[in-house]
Amino acid sequence: MKTQVCIIGGGPSGLMLSQLLHLKGIDTIVLEKHSREYVLGRIRAGVLEHGFAELMREAQCGERMDREGEIHDGFEISDNGALTRVDLHKYSGGSSVVVYGQTELTRDLYDARDRMKGTVIHNVEDVALHDLNTTTPPYVTYRDGDEIVRIDCDFVIGADGFHGPSRKAIPKDVLTEYEKVYPFGWLGVLSRTKPVNPELIYAKHDRGFALCSLRSQVLSRYYIQVPLSDTVEDWSDADFWDELKKRLPAEVAERLETGPSIEKSIAPLRSFVAEPMRWGNLFLAGDAAHIVPPTGARGLNSAASDIYYLYHAMVDHYLKGDDTGLDQYSQKALARVWKAQRFSWWMTTMLHTFPDSIAYDRKLQDTDLAYLFSSEAALSSLAENYVGLPF
Ligand code: APR
Ligand code: PHB
Repeated sequence: MKTQVCIIGGGPSGLMLSQLLHLKGIDTIVLEKHSREYVLGRIRAGVLEHGFAELMREAQCGERMDREGEIHDGFEISDNGALTRVDLHKYSGGSSVVVYGQTELTRDLYDARDRMKGTVIHNVEDVALHDLNTTTPPYVTYRDGDEIVRIDCDFVIGADGFHGPSRKAIPKDVLTEYEKVYPFGWLGVLSRTKPVNPELIYAKHDRGFALCSLRSQVLSRYYIQVPLSDTVEDWSDADFWDELKKRLPAEVAERLETGPSIEKSIAPLRSFVAEPMRWGNLFLAGDAAHIVPPTGARGLNSAASDIYYLYHAMVDHYLKGDDTGLDQYSQKALARVWKAQRFSWWMTTMLHTFPDSIAYDRKLQDTDLAYLFSSEAALSSLAENYVGLPF
């Protein structure tokens, strides 16, 4: 097979890029390790920054998001039971976020790829990348049963998530990896209940952090900070609701509607960046190159700028013969990635309970929040990062 851009990974990053390039007449093939059912069965986060929502529209995939997603102009922070609202709209100069599940967004992207007869090949095994940095064009191989299939291309996009093979194809002496692992995870529960609050509540509490989020007016998503040693089996639904209530303001806990969990999982919190994001004709995008803890809702949103830069760089290459965007990709993408890292680290550090923290650190955490609520400049800084820095 032959294509212009071979994209490894059928998550939101790979699908979005494939769709955008298709609309400019650039041919892609997307290779995905899992079945579509598996990919669409994964429960992911649900806050989209303004710029990502715009990309969805540009990709002609924004219709359902605009119909079913909710515009949020703010969120609440609870500090040991005391609630303060962060007015995102006011402090970001009129911007907002869209609450729309990443799973639904991925479904919309798959539907669009189908509609436009895009090639997305599922269940590919043993994907391998070849000739990425030689004088001959690159190619990708995968196994289909007993057969090895070869795809010749101009460029390879590694959009295969944190565990995929693309990043590993870059030689160790070229790649630098920066990593920070937090000493806790988030236990998440999805339930068919009315959300406890119209807006998200990020709750700092001595017992540990909690988050009240939602997918719709009948579907709630809640999280609590748990030790890394905990497993899902350690937490019955009843235990989860009891613990969540303890970390929320009394008036919120009182109106919390509980019900059976329809999904329950634990995710460890990790910050990770790989540099550079380009090696020869390989370009990394999204989780393949960087991971953030979910506290600042930056995961998908830091993938958005990678896709935006790559999309424009490819269009300039194919339609104008201009390679400046490709040459500047890694540097430009990483500059924004590190800002998302900083913001996610700051939100995580300010709001969680660290098992080995010293009294001095806890005082600083409290002061960070007190300063935030006392300073319009600090609130503006939070808001501009949360709604998304410009691409
Ligand atoms: N071959 C082909 N596909 C692969 C391989 C492989 N060897 N390994 C992994 N993949 C696929 C995964 O199955 C997954 O569907 O690559 C896809 C990567 O998708 P994501 O992990 O969703 O990453 P990305 O598209 O960059 O999206 C970033 O997802 O994890 C969240 O917080 C993150 O919200 C962010 C978003
Ligand atoms: C979610 O709804 O899953 C969610 C929302 C905000 C976050 C993290 C997760 O910061």
